[in-house]
Amino acid sequence: MTSTNYDQYLPESIGSFVPNYIDRGQGAIVYTENGDRYIDLSGGWGCLAVGYSHPKVVETVKNQVEKFFHTDFSAIPYESYPKLAARLSELAPGETQKKAAFFNSGAEAVENAVKFAKADTGRGALVTFQNAFHGRTLLTMTLTHKANPYKAGFGPFAPDVYRLPYPNRYRSNFEVRELENELTTMVDPEDVAAIIIEPVVGEGGFLVPPDDFLPYLRELADKYGIDLIFDEIQSGMGRTGKFFAAEHFDVEPDLITVAKSLAGGMPLSGVIGKAEVMDAPKPGSIGGTYVGNPIAIRSALTVLDVIEEEGLLERASEIGEIAVSRFRQMKQKHDIVGDVRGLGAMIAIELVQDRETKEPAPEITQKVAELSLEENVILPTAGLHGNVIRLLMPLVIDKENLERALDVVDNSLEKVKTNHG
Ligand SMILES: Cc1ncc(COP(=O)(O)O)c(C=O)c1O
Repeated sequence: MTSTNYDQYLPESIGSFVPNYIDRGQGAIVYTENGDRYIDLSGGWGCLAVGYSHPKVVETVKNQVEKFFHTDFSAIPYESYPKLAARLSELAPGETQKKAAFFNSGAEAVENAVKFAKADTGRGALVTFQNAFHGRTLLTMTLTHKANPYKAGFGPFAPDVYRLPYPNRYRSNFEVRELENELTTMVDPEDVAAIIIEPVVGEGGFLVPPDDFLPYLRELADKYGIDLIFDEIQSGMGRTGKFFAAEHFDVEPDLITVAKSLAGGMPLSGVIGKAEVMDAPKPGSIGGTYVGNPIAIRSALTVLDVIEEEGLLERASEIGEIAVSRFRQMKQKHDIVGDVRGLGAMIAIELVQDRETKEPAPEITQKVAELSLEENVILPTAGLHGNVIRLLMPLVIDKENLERALDVVDNSLEKVKTNHG
């Protein structure tokens, strides 16, 4: 049977962007079974900050596999679990003592962060934002904004979730301080367990908030006894040039969710939070059979070492600067580029039909990604309207490959201009 025949066994909802199976990956480069080589700017959707097949991570995983794969921490403990909890608690912003617990996926971390917040506050309502993406389970899908393809046909959704406007600096122009009024007219703030926000919006289009926004949410949360959750699943682990994006804004959230690059591609997520909040649920009330898998936990400890040893925070800022300056040049050349934005290595461009009306250009964005793929660059898109090109490359990408990939994006923008102009 040839590989293509397998397609008939896959549901329509499961598909891939690259048309060939991967054979192996190295750093930011992927080799497919048919012998093609790609520069991967998607980095496993932001999971591979340390790159594919980092030798130290590979060695760690091999060593752990030989000892044991699984026990369930609630049955037989392993020291790596509290060790990782300690390291992440020390890295988390703010002076308050922190604790951490581990899960499998990002969505599972968000679900559990909400459980910690509900137990802590004794309340049930949740506040989320426009452009948010928090996952695909019932609750996290409800917290997510974008209907298609994430929510359409999957309702009814979880109750008592309220969505506030997001200060999108490119598209909206509202006064951050109006949010209190928006909030208190929708729901009694004394009923709200948590406000959940991505400190830099990921899937929703790489939006960086104005400097006063997150401190204001902190104030609002404190005023009404609400827990503030930062979802750092995409923005954390050094991607913005600091370990947590929250550090750019000098805000201490009550809870932080992490996943993606945490364990270098092994499925692992975590909730880090103020000790008092993390201690609120009763013993035995938080868990899961596979949560905090020992191979993934060891892998995460090594990822933290690699981030430190290889200076990946500085590296994120450096590659971000290269990307911003190249994207700014592209904006000068191509009218379709409406906005260049981001923080650290979380850099994006937003494509529009017209710079005045800012009408989104999703088809053209898709075309740019397809044309780039033809030139062996894997380019992720994003945004509520699907008109954002974002960079999620491994932070270990070398300058040459990054520049080469950005040349390809530039050429693809030129080609769509010819086709559409
Ligand atoms: C900010 C954010 N939260 C949550 C999730 C969900 O993570 P997972 O796909 O691992 O469930 C994602 C995934 O893209 C994300 O970017």
